[in-house]
Amino acid sequence: MSRQYDYLQQQLARHDRLDLVGTTTPLEHLSRLSDYLGRDIYIKRDDLTPMAMGGNKLRKLEFLAADALRQGADTLVTAGAIQSNHVRQTAAVAAKLGLHCVALLENPIGTRQENYLTNGNRLLLDLFNVEVVMCDALHDPITQLNEQAERLEAQGFRPYVVPVGGSNSLGALGYVQCALEIAQQSDAGKVDFSSVVVASGSAGTHAGLAVGLQQLLPDTLLIGVTVSRKIADQLPKVAALQQQLARDLNLTDSPQAITLWDDYFAPEYGMPNEEGMAAIHLLASRESILLDPVYTGKAMAGLLDGIERDRFPDKGPILFIHTGGAPALFAYHPHV
Ligand SMILES: Cc1ncc(COP(=O)(O)O)c(C=O)c1O
Repeated sequence: MSRQYDYLQQQLARHDRLDLVGTTTPLEHLSRLSDYLGRDIYIKRDDLTPMAMGGNKLRKLEFLAADALRQGADTLVTAGAIQSNHVRQTAAVAAKLGLHCVALLENPIGTRQENYLTNGNRLLLDLFNVEVVMCDALHDPITQLNEQAERLEAQGFRPYVVPVGGSNSLGALGYVQCALEIAQQSDAGKVDFSSVVVASGSAGTHAGLAVGLQQLLPDTLLIGVTVSRKIADQLPKVAALQQQLARDLNLTDSPQAITLWDDYFAPEYGMPNEEGMAAIHLLASRESILLDPVYTGKAMAGLLDGIERDRFPDKGPILFIHTGGAPALFAYHPHV
């Protein structure tokens, strides 16, 4: 592999890291979907990371949980929606490591639907023995998480705050690792990806890929499909994390421009839409791949519409990053 590959590997090796993901996640060609669309579509199966029904957060938690242990923490504290995949994966890691876990949860769509409140990811939190604290809204998550940490300290715990989505520059290293895998797998499979499509939420996944792919596959366009914000609000979040991460990795080239598509998350974060649900059905019925209503269904809707409307730079192969989330399918049934 390239000099850049070796360099990034060395930089990652400087950080404490737990082995939670294990071997490389699969990268597959979706032949039935490709035939249907008349375009080569590949998928990176980060929905198959090994712990507790998988998903993208495990890559971030390899670094974040290692940092927590290094600091002597006995409790992970984090926050998200009732149906957060991030909270579920953090709780799973805490259980595996023998740590206490506190989850500060909000109901961002204000639903009273039973499945949303008790099934899917929320059901799993109880299996992991999470201490759930409900709040009206995560209006200032950093402050709210720090307040929880203070409360826990007063009770004698040693809390470690995992930011919303695991998205700080330490967590984003997990997606530099994913970029290394993509470069290695595309090289081995002799495929040049024209574009990579990923859901862009708390931004760590997008920023980590942006930094890694700029080094490893500089001709590939990375497109973040927003799941919660318009471009004006999402762009500064992704760019700030991209720049911080590049600094932490001692990279000196000027950061590549961030590309975002923000037309696919309406009506709001956490509320399914028709195009996303149709994308979920298409992938399930053609490929037996389960997307989710909040993130990957909407990101895939963006990919499909992008092909339909010729939004991609050329007709080359497209790689979709499957970041997980299928447990939420049970929470959104029959409706929210
Ligand atoms: C299934 C799924 N996909 C994508 C994302 C977005 O990743 P990020 O928050 O790093 O932008 C999340 C975040 O919670 C997620 O749960």
